[in-house]
Amino acid sequence: MPSLHFMLLKLAPLNTRIVGGENAPPGSWPWQANLLQTFPTYQIMCGGSLINSKWVLSAAHCFSSTNTANWNVYLGRQELSGTNPNEQVRTLSSIFPHPLYNSSTHDNDLALLELSTTVTFSDFIRPICLAASSSTFYNGTETWVTGWGNFKHNTVMPLPSPATLQELEVLIVGNNKCNCLYGGSIITTNMICAGVLAGGKGSCQGDSGGPLVVKQGSVWIQAGIVSFGYKCAEPNYPGVYTRVSPYQTWINSIIITKQTGFVTYTSSGKNSDSSTSCSSSPSITITPSTPTTTTTTAKRECLIFPRFNFPVGSYVILILSIV
Ligand SMILES: *[C@@H]1O[C@H](CO)[C@@H](O)[C@H](O)[C@H]1NC(C)=O
Ligand SMILES: *[C@@H]1O[C@H](CO)[C@@H](O)[C@H](O)[C@H]1NC(C)=O
Repeated sequence: MPSLHFMLLKLAPLNTRIVGGENAPPGSWPWQANLLQTFPTYQIMCGGSLINSKWVLSAAHCFSSTNTANWNVYLGRQELSGTNPNEQVRTLSSIFPHPLYNSSTHDNDLALLELSTTVTFSDFIRPICLAASSSTFYNGTETWVTGWGNFKHNTVMPLPSPATLQELEVLIVGNNKCNCLYGGSIITTNMICAGVLAGGKGSCQGDSGGPLVVKQGSVWIQAGIVSFGYKCAEPNYPGVYTRVSPYQTWINSIIITKQTGFVTYTSSGKNSDSSTSCSSSPSITITPSTPTTTTTTAKRECLIFPRFNFPVGSYVILILSIV
Protein backbone atom coordinates (compact mmCIF):
# COMPACT_ATOMS: atom_id res chain seq x y z
CA MET A 1 0.00 0.00 0.00
CA PRO A 2 1.40 3.38 -0.93
CA SER A 3 1.60 6.23 1.53
CA LEU A 4 1.78 9.98 1.54
CA HIS A 5 3.47 12.41 3.87
CA PHE A 6 2.97 16.08 4.59
CA MET A 7 5.43 18.80 5.37
CA LEU A 8 4.76 21.30 8.09
CA LEU A 9 3.74 24.42 6.24
CA LYS A 10 5.93 26.63 8.34
CA LEU A 11 8.88 24.60 7.15
CA ALA A 12 7.85 24.06 3.56
CA PRO A 13 4.92 26.22 2.66
CA LEU A 14 4.59 25.39 -0.97
CA ASN A 15 5.41 21.80 -1.48
CA THR A 16 3.72 19.18 0.58
CA ARG A 17 4.26 15.91 -1.26
CA ILE A 18 3.50 12.16 -1.25
CA VAL A 19 5.94 9.68 0.27
CA GLY A 20 5.75 5.91 -0.03
CA GLY A 21 3.11 5.91 -2.74
CA GLU A 22 2.87 3.89 -5.92
CA ASN A 23 2.86 4.91 -9.55
CA ALA A 24 -0.70 5.74 -10.57
CA PRO A 25 -1.96 3.95 -13.71
CA PRO A 26 -2.59 6.54 -16.48
CA GLY A 27 -6.13 7.91 -16.33
CA SER A 28 -6.94 6.61 -12.87
CA TRP A 29 -7.13 10.10 -11.31
CA PRO A 30 -8.36 12.17 -14.29
CA TRP A 31 -9.16 15.27 -12.19
CA GLN A 32 -5.56 15.61 -10.97
CA ALA A 33 -4.01 18.95 -11.93
CA ASN A 34 -0.34 19.89 -11.87
CA LEU A 35 0.25 23.58 -11.14
CA LEU A 36 3.55 25.17 -12.01
CA GLN A 37 4.59 28.78 -11.61
CA THR A 38 7.78 29.24 -13.56
CA PHE A 39 10.36 31.92 -12.97
CA PRO A 40 13.75 32.27 -14.62
CA THR A 41 15.54 30.54 -11.77
CA TYR A 42 12.94 28.44 -9.97
CA GLN A 43 9.48 26.91 -10.10
CA ILE A 44 6.70 26.51 -7.57
CA MET A 45 4.75 23.27 -7.84
CA CYS A 46 1.38 22.40 -6.39
CA GLY A 47 -1.44 19.98 -7.05
CA GLY A 48 -5.07 20.74 -7.74
CA SER A 49 -8.30 19.12 -8.87
CA LEU A 50 -10.52 19.81 -11.87
CA ILE A 51 -14.05 20.46 -10.58
CA ASN A 52 -15.67 21.44 -13.89
CA SER A 53 -14.41 22.28 -17.36
CA LYS A 54 -13.13 25.73 -16.36
CA TRP A 55 -12.26 25.60 -12.65
CA VAL A 56 -9.59 23.98 -10.51
CA LEU A 57 -9.58 23.68 -6.72
CA SER A 58 -6.26 24.01 -4.86
CA ALA A 59 -4.74 25.31 -1.62
CA ALA A 60 -4.52 29.02 -0.76
CA HIS A 61 -0.96 28.61 0.51
CA CYS A 62 0.22 27.85 -3.03
CA PHE A 63 -0.46 31.46 -4.02
CA SER A 64 1.51 34.36 -2.64
CA SER A 65 -0.75 36.74 -4.57
CA THR A 66 -3.68 36.74 -6.95
CA ASN A 67 -1.37 37.62 -9.82
CA THR A 68 -1.93 34.94 -12.46
CA ALA A 69 1.36 35.59 -14.26
CA ASN A 70 3.65 32.63 -14.94
CA TRP A 71 1.16 29.97 -13.79
CA ASN A 72 0.45 26.96 -15.98
CA VAL A 73 -2.11 24.27 -15.16
CA TYR A 74 -1.55 20.81 -16.66
CA LEU A 75 -4.42 18.34 -16.93
CA GLY A 76 -4.22 14.77 -18.19
CA ARG A 77 -0.62 14.72 -17.02
CA GLN A 78 1.12 11.55 -15.91
CA GLU A 79 4.81 12.44 -15.88
CA LEU A 80 6.39 15.65 -14.65
CA SER A 81 8.87 15.52 -17.46
CA GLY A 82 8.87 13.71 -20.77
CA THR A 83 5.92 12.96 -23.00
CA ASN A 84 2.34 13.35 -21.83
CA PRO A 85 0.18 12.44 -24.85
CA ASN A 86 -3.12 13.16 -23.09
CA GLU A 87 -2.16 16.51 -21.63
CA GLN A 88 -3.93 19.87 -21.96
CA VAL A 89 -2.28 23.02 -20.64
CA ARG A 90 -4.03 26.21 -19.58
CA THR A 91 -3.01 29.52 -18.10
CA LEU A 92 -5.06 31.16 -15.36
CA SER A 93 -7.48 34.03 -15.79
CA SER A 94 -8.14 34.46 -12.05
CA ILE A 95 -7.12 33.20 -8.61
CA PHE A 96 -9.57 33.33 -5.69
CA PRO A 97 -7.92 32.43 -2.38
CA HIS A 98 -10.45 32.03 0.42
CA PRO A 99 -10.84 35.50 1.98
CA LEU A 100 -10.43 34.09 5.50
CA TYR A 101 -7.31 32.05 4.76
CA ASN A 102 -4.95 32.37 7.72
CA SER A 103 -1.35 31.48 6.96
CA SER A 104 -0.50 31.14 10.68
CA THR A 105 -3.23 28.68 11.58
CA HIS A 106 -3.65 27.21 8.04
CA ASP A 107 -7.38 27.71 8.47
CA ASN A 108 -9.43 28.08 5.25
CA ASP A 109 -6.52 26.88 3.11
CA LEU A 110 -8.24 26.70 -0.28
CA ALA A 111 -8.31 28.63 -3.52
CA LEU A 112 -10.35 28.49 -6.69
CA LEU A 113 -8.57 28.90 -10.02
CA GLU A 114 -10.30 29.96 -13.19
CA LEU A 115 -8.71 28.55 -16.33
CA SER A 116 -8.11 30.82 -19.31
CA THR A 117 -10.26 28.55 -21.48
CA THR A 118 -12.21 25.38 -20.82
CA VAL A 119 -10.56 21.99 -21.10
CA THR A 120 -12.01 19.19 -23.20
CA PHE A 121 -12.98 16.13 -21.19
CA SER A 122 -11.47 12.78 -22.16
CA ASP A 123 -10.66 9.45 -20.53
CA PHE A 124 -7.73 11.27 -18.94
CA ILE A 125 -9.39 14.58 -18.05
CA ARG A 126 -12.58 14.56 -16.01
CA PRO A 127 -13.88 16.61 -13.10
CA ILE A 128 -14.36 15.28 -9.59
CA CYS A 129 -17.45 15.80 -7.46
CA LEU A 130 -17.01 17.72 -4.21
CA ALA A 131 -18.23 16.64 -0.79
CA ALA A 132 -21.48 18.47 -0.03
CA SER A 133 -21.80 20.28 3.28
CA SER A 134 -23.86 17.49 4.87
CA SER A 135 -21.12 14.88 4.30
CA THR A 136 -19.71 12.78 7.17
CA PHE A 137 -16.23 11.25 7.23
CA TYR A 138 -15.81 8.92 10.17
CA ASN A 139 -12.50 7.85 11.64
CA GLY A 140 -11.14 4.97 9.56
CA THR A 141 -12.77 5.90 6.23
CA GLU A 142 -10.58 4.78 3.31
CA THR A 143 -9.40 7.62 1.11
CA TRP A 144 -6.76 8.23 -1.55
CA VAL A 145 -4.32 11.06 -2.05
CA THR A 146 -2.39 11.71 -5.24
CA GLY A 147 0.44 13.97 -6.29
CA TRP A 148 3.95 14.40 -7.61
CA GLY A 149 5.41 15.55 -4.31
CA ASN A 150 8.31 13.99 -2.46
CA PHE A 151 10.12 14.78 0.73
CA LYS A 152 13.34 15.09 -1.25
CA HIS A 153 11.90 17.81 -3.43
CA ASN A 154 11.45 21.45 -2.72
CA THR A 155 10.29 24.46 -4.64
CA VAL A 156 13.64 24.96 -6.29
CA MET A 157 14.28 23.57 -9.74
CA PRO A 158 15.16 21.17 -11.22
CA LEU A 159 12.03 19.13 -10.91
CA PRO A 160 12.66 15.47 -10.11
CA SER A 161 12.98 13.05 -12.95
CA PRO A 162 11.49 10.60 -13.47
CA ALA A 163 8.34 11.57 -11.61
CA THR A 164 5.17 9.63 -12.24
CA LEU A 165 1.95 10.66 -10.49
CA GLN A 166 1.85 8.87 -7.13
CA GLU A 167 -1.18 7.43 -5.38
CA LEU A 168 -1.54 6.44 -1.75
CA GLU A 169 -4.34 5.00 0.33
CA VAL A 170 -4.77 6.72 3.69
CA LEU A 171 -7.36 6.40 6.44
CA ILE A 172 -9.35 9.27 7.88
CA VAL A 173 -8.24 10.10 11.42
CA GLY A 174 -11.10 11.73 13.32
CA ASN A 175 -10.67 15.38 14.29
CA ASN A 176 -10.61 14.67 18.03
CA LYS A 177 -7.87 12.09 17.67
CA CYS A 178 -5.95 14.20 15.14
CA ASN A 179 -6.09 17.22 17.41
CA CYS A 180 -4.73 15.13 20.29
CA LEU A 181 -1.89 13.91 18.10
CA TYR A 182 -1.05 17.48 17.09
CA GLY A 183 -1.10 18.76 20.63
CA GLY A 184 -4.68 19.75 21.17
CA SER A 185 -5.47 23.03 19.44
CA ILE A 186 -4.36 23.00 15.82
CA ILE A 187 -7.05 21.08 13.96
CA THR A 188 -10.14 23.16 13.23
CA THR A 189 -13.50 21.95 11.95
CA ASN A 190 -12.39 23.25 8.53
CA MET A 191 -9.71 20.56 8.43
CA ILE A 192 -9.76 16.78 7.99
CA CYS A 193 -6.87 14.43 8.80
CA ALA A 194 -5.80 11.28 7.00
CA GLY A 195 -2.72 9.14 7.13
CA VAL A 196 -1.03 5.94 8.12
CA LEU A 197 -0.40 6.30 11.85
CA ALA A 198 2.40 3.75 11.76
CA GLY A 199 4.35 6.21 9.64
CA GLY A 200 6.34 5.75 6.46
CA LYS A 201 3.50 6.76 4.18
CA GLY A 202 1.96 10.15 3.62
CA SER A 203 1.74 13.29 1.57
CA CYS A 204 4.75 15.57 1.47
CA GLN A 205 6.34 18.46 -0.36
CA GLY A 206 4.86 19.23 -3.75
CA ASP A 207 1.49 17.57 -3.09
CA SER A 208 -0.07 20.73 -1.66
CA GLY A 209 -3.39 21.68 -3.16
CA GLY A 210 -3.96 18.15 -4.46
CA PRO A 211 -7.08 16.13 -3.75
CA LEU A 212 -7.95 13.62 -1.02
CA VAL A 213 -10.73 11.53 -2.54
CA VAL A 214 -13.16 8.83 -1.50
CA LYS A 215 -15.38 6.52 -3.50
CA GLN A 216 -19.09 6.13 -2.86
CA GLY A 217 -20.68 3.58 -5.17
CA SER A 218 -19.39 4.53 -8.59
CA VAL A 219 -18.83 8.19 -7.72
CA TRP A 220 -15.52 9.69 -6.64
CA ILE A 221 -15.86 12.58 -4.19
CA GLN A 222 -13.18 14.99 -3.01
CA ALA A 223 -13.07 15.18 0.78
CA GLY A 224 -9.92 17.22 1.32
CA ILE A 225 -7.15 19.38 -0.12
CA VAL A 226 -3.51 18.71 0.82
CA SER A 227 -2.65 21.48 3.29
CA PHE A 228 0.00 20.77 5.92
CA GLY A 229 1.53 18.28 8.31
CA TYR A 230 4.44 17.65 10.59
CA LYS A 231 7.40 16.62 8.44
CA CYS A 232 6.53 13.76 6.08
CA ALA A 233 5.22 10.31 6.99
CA GLU A 234 6.11 10.71 10.66
CA PRO A 235 4.41 8.10 12.87
CA ASN A 236 1.34 9.51 14.62
CA TYR A 237 1.29 12.69 12.55
CA PRO A 238 -1.37 12.23 9.87
CA GLY A 239 -1.56 14.68 7.00
CA VAL A 240 -3.88 17.61 7.52
CA TYR A 241 -6.21 18.53 4.68
CA THR A 242 -8.60 21.39 4.13
CA ARG A 243 -12.06 19.87 4.61
CA VAL A 244 -14.00 20.55 1.40
CA SER A 245 -17.56 20.11 2.70
CA PRO A 246 -17.83 23.35 4.75
CA TYR A 247 -17.10 25.39 1.62
CA GLN A 248 -20.03 24.42 -0.59
CA THR A 249 -21.65 27.83 -0.16
CA TRP A 250 -18.42 29.76 -0.74
CA ILE A 251 -17.52 27.72 -3.84
CA ASN A 252 -20.99 28.25 -5.28
CA SER A 253 -20.68 31.98 -4.63
CA ILE A 254 -17.50 32.18 -6.74
CA ILE A 255 -18.36 29.77 -9.55
CA ILE A 256 -21.67 31.09 -10.75
CA THR A 257 -21.48 30.48 -14.46
CA LYS A 258 -20.56 26.78 -14.34
CA GLN A 259 -22.15 23.98 -12.38
CA THR A 260 -19.95 22.32 -9.76
CA GLY A 261 -21.07 18.88 -8.64
CA PHE A 262 -21.62 18.48 -4.90
CA VAL A 263 -22.43 15.02 -3.58
CA THR A 264 -23.08 14.06 0.03
CA TYR A 265 -20.70 11.41 1.35
CA THR A 266 -22.28 9.47 4.19
CA SER A 267 -20.16 7.35 6.51
CA SER A 268 -21.86 4.27 7.83
CA GLY A 269 -21.74 2.81 11.32
CA LYS A 270 -20.64 4.73 14.34
CA ASN A 271 -17.93 7.36 14.56
CA SER A 272 -15.41 6.05 17.05
CA ASP A 273 -13.81 9.49 17.08
CA SER A 274 -16.69 10.98 19.05
CA SER A 275 -15.56 9.04 22.13
CA THR A 276 -11.90 10.02 21.71
CA SER A 277 -10.35 12.37 24.22
CA CYS A 278 -6.73 13.33 24.72
CA SER A 279 -4.91 12.05 27.76
CA SER A 280 -3.18 15.36 28.34
CA SER A 281 -5.16 17.93 26.40
CA PRO A 282 -8.84 18.76 26.57
CA SER A 283 -10.87 17.21 23.82
CA ILE A 284 -12.45 19.56 21.36
CA THR A 285 -16.06 19.51 20.36
CA ILE A 286 -16.59 18.99 16.69
CA THR A 287 -19.57 20.90 15.51
CA PRO A 288 -21.16 19.09 12.60
CA SER A 289 -21.48 21.23 9.53
CA THR A 290 -24.97 22.52 8.92
CA PRO A 291 -26.75 20.05 6.70
CA THR A 292 -27.59 21.62 3.39
CA THR A 293 -29.79 19.85 0.96
CA THR A 294 -28.32 19.79 -2.51
CA THR A 295 -31.34 20.75 -4.55
CA THR A 296 -29.50 21.36 -7.78
CA THR A 297 -31.01 19.53 -10.67
CA ALA A 298 -28.82 21.08 -13.36
CA LYS A 299 -26.32 18.70 -14.88
CA ARG A 300 -23.22 18.08 -12.84
CA GLU A 301 -20.24 17.51 -15.04
CA CYS A 302 -18.61 15.27 -12.47
CA LEU A 303 -21.44 12.78 -12.89
CA ILE A 304 -21.56 12.75 -16.67
CA PHE A 305 -19.08 9.94 -17.07
CA PRO A 306 -19.57 6.95 -14.83
CA ARG A 307 -16.32 5.86 -13.24
CA PHE A 308 -15.53 2.20 -13.22
CA ASN A 309 -13.66 0.28 -10.61
CA PHE A 310 -10.76 -0.20 -12.94
CA PRO A 311 -8.19 2.28 -14.05
CA VAL A 312 -8.50 3.26 -17.71
CA GLY A 313 -5.79 0.79 -18.77
CA SER A 314 -7.52 -2.15 -17.10
CA TYR A 315 -10.81 -1.15 -18.60
CA VAL A 316 -9.43 -1.23 -22.11
CA ILE A 317 -7.95 -4.65 -21.48
CA LEU A 318 -11.28 -5.88 -20.12
CA ILE A 319 -13.10 -4.77 -23.28
CA LEU A 320 -10.53 -6.47 -25.47
CA SER A 321 -10.82 -9.73 -23.59
CA ILE A 322 -14.62 -9.69 -23.96
CA VAL A 323 -14.24 -9.13 -27.68
C1 LIG B 1 -4.75 34.18 12.22
O1 LIG B 1 -5.11 33.48 13.38
C2 LIG B 1 -4.44 33.97 14.53
C3 LIG B 1 -4.78 33.02 15.68
O2 LIG B 1 -6.17 32.90 15.82
C4 LIG B 1 -4.89 35.39 14.79
O3 LIG B 1 -4.24 35.90 15.93
C5 LIG B 1 -4.55 36.24 13.57
O4 LIG B 1 -5.05 37.54 13.74
C6 LIG B 1 -5.14 35.63 12.33
N1 LIG B 1 -4.67 36.35 11.17
C7 LIG B 1 -5.50 36.78 10.24
C8 LIG B 1 -4.86 37.49 9.10
O5 LIG B 1 -6.70 36.64 10.31
C1 LIG C 1 -10.31 5.40 15.24
O1 LIG C 1 -10.49 5.87 16.57
C2 LIG C 1 -10.16 4.94 17.55
C3 LIG C 1 -10.43 5.63 18.87
O2 LIG C 1 -9.67 6.77 19.00
C4 LIG C 1 -8.73 4.50 17.45
O3 LIG C 1 -8.44 3.51 18.37
C5 LIG C 1 -8.46 3.98 16.06
O4 LIG C 1 -7.11 3.70 15.90
C6 LIG C 1 -8.89 4.99 15.04
N1 LIG C 1 -8.68 4.48 13.72
C7 LIG C 1 -8.00 5.17 12.85
C8 LIG C 1 -7.86 4.51 11.52
O5 LIG C 1 -7.56 6.28 13.05
